Amino acid sequence: MCGIIGVTGEPDALPVILGALHQLEYRGYDSAGVALVVDGSLWRARAADGTHSVADLATLTAEAPSGHSAAIGHTRWATHGHPTPENAHPHTDCTGRLAIIHNGILENHAALRSELLSQGHIMTSATDTEVMAHLIESHLSQGRDLTEATRETLRAVRGAFSIAVIHADEPDTIVAARRSTPLVLGLEGNVAFLASDVPALLGHTRQLFALADDELAVLTPGAIAVTTLAGEPVTPDQLSITWDLEAAQKDGYEDFMSKEMHEQPQAVANTLLDRRGPSGELVLDEMRLGPKDLAHIDKVFIVACGSSYHSALVAKYAIEQWVKLPTEVDIASEFRYRDPVLTERTLCVGVSQSGETLDTSEAMREASRLGAKVLVVSNVVDSSMARAADGVLYTRAGPEVGVASTKCHLAQIVALEILGLTLAQIHGTLSPSEIAEVLNGMDELPSLITTALSRAADVDDVASKLTDARDFFFLGRHVGFPMALEGALKLKELAYLRAEGYPAGELKHGPIALIEPGTVVVGIATRNKLSEKLLSNIAEVHSRGATVVLVADDGDEEVAAVADHVLWVPKTNPLLSPVVGVIPLQQLAYRLATLHGHDVDRPRNLAKTVTVE
Ligand code: F6R
Repeated sequence: MCGIIGVTGEPDALPVILGALHQLEYRGYDSAGVALVVDGSLWRARAADGTHSVADLATLTAEAPSGHSAAIGHTRWATHGHPTPENAHPHTDCTGRLAIIHNGILENHAALRSELLSQGHIMTSATDTEVMAHLIESHLSQGRDLTEATRETLRAVRGAFSIAVIHADEPDTIVAARRSTPLVLGLEGNVAFLASDVPALLGHTRQLFALADDELAVLTPGAIAVTTLAGEPVTPDQLSITWDLEAAQKDGYEDFMSKEMHEQPQAVANTLLDRRGPSGELVLDEMRLGPKDLAHIDKVFIVACGSSYHSALVAKYAIEQWVKLPTEVDIASEFRYRDPVLTERTLCVGVSQSGETLDTSEAMREASRLGAKVLVVSNVVDSSMARAADGVLYTRAGPEVGVASTKCHLAQIVALEILGLTLAQIHGTLSPSEIAEVLNGMDELPSLITTALSRAADVDDVASKLTDARDFFFLGRHVGFPMALEGALKLKELAYLRAEGYPAGELKHGPIALIEPGTVVVGIATRNKLSEKLLSNIAEVHSRGATVVLVADDGDEEVAAVADHVLWVPKTNPLLSPVVGVIPLQQLAYRLATLHGHDVDRPRNLAKTVTVE
């Protein structure tokens, strides 16, 4: 996730760009940059400080020339290429007269890059974005104007993008377009704007327009012309904005947690993008560990804390089923102090949204010392764990502000399952068609998550009936067990209610003594190979007076018959079901927290990144 801003018709554009980049920093802040057309030339500055990039950019631009024509700015959350000044946007073409900024991920950038290099283009970054600068350059050299050259370029790229392009030869023009990532346009007198989202523009105009998927806009002073990518004219929808700035940063949602829950389809889609080679095989470019390193692996350890640990537990079921490799999952704070048996044939995977959690990073250090290959799954490019590891696989959820992990948890499950499929490909334990079938199921996840999210009102209704409850058990079997743990953790940390996550089969070995009228049992009853057994466990607690809430696949009436309340979710492959089934658990915790009057973004006693023991 990155933030983009563009302005034309404002001779003093820099303060507008820098102010908007501050507003957009929540979308990413590992680097920032600006490009201005001044007196028929392009002027560019970029900073990559990691946390203060926009502030550094303000210093770098203090001496920038005045009298601006078109201007664009970018704040980056790295996906392709490290967060360095060379990889910071805007990117230029070989002439240095064109500049482009981009939010999104291109899927076919590698093929386009090789083609452009073979034609003699010089690339100076490791980003997917730079290929678009050079593609536009080659279309310009064939006599097209900037708009047509951009249109042609977008016909050649696959993936997600919001872009803005400027060129010194068309000094007042900005060409912008989008597919699958956001872009808004604004107009105020002679000044035309574009930005990733509304807050960046609120201080300047309230006359805002939405650009839809596969539309292209040409901004000139005082005018915006929109067409489809095919060239058909379009009248853009005007947005009616009633938000203040703080509400707008939350995209109109009450809090960051709601906003981030709604970003989950995009987080999962982004994590899936760009993982397949030309013949459909999995190619994890960024991972740094390839078939040579992974073919001889005979054991997998996955180590993490909190919600990341729950993602790891889901992956254990997938890796054992798909790759037939023993897979152990451990809590990082325990792993590092016991004597784990690791060899150079062990793959040790650390899972951490922040990539900075002390327990997990120390556990990875220990694994490395013991000779294992270390791979890190992180949401932050070049986090300290990512740098120290032998390999890295990034979730691409964008920055997560709410303390309770939501979108990162889902993206982690998907990334770890992609890792599982890659190991299955390398070890030959699944055929290409079996892998393709799972990947096709994964491609459907964003829309299934969207459906699950749309049922929040049903969850609210159930939550309103549970406001007096103080004791919750979350029960599941197979992948339902880590889902149960995650549901219980969310309820504890957000609603401050006692909640135990348990493997349902273990209940009869002790905890069932706690079940009495008034206890709420949330059962994860989405279908997997242990569903029948789970339903027997649920019958046991029901007969002891517990109130039973079940998460169930759409239309599963057998499950509905044993529940007091059902939270329906769309059905998917059992190993993928946690990505959909955890949604009502997040919503239940969220709603009970707000009903009890708690701040969901900043739960008491917790911090977003835990860098202490
Ligand atoms: C729970 C939550 C925490 C984190 C845990 C690990 O909602 O957010 O349990 O999952 O602190 O953090 P990372 O993934 O940054 O290592």
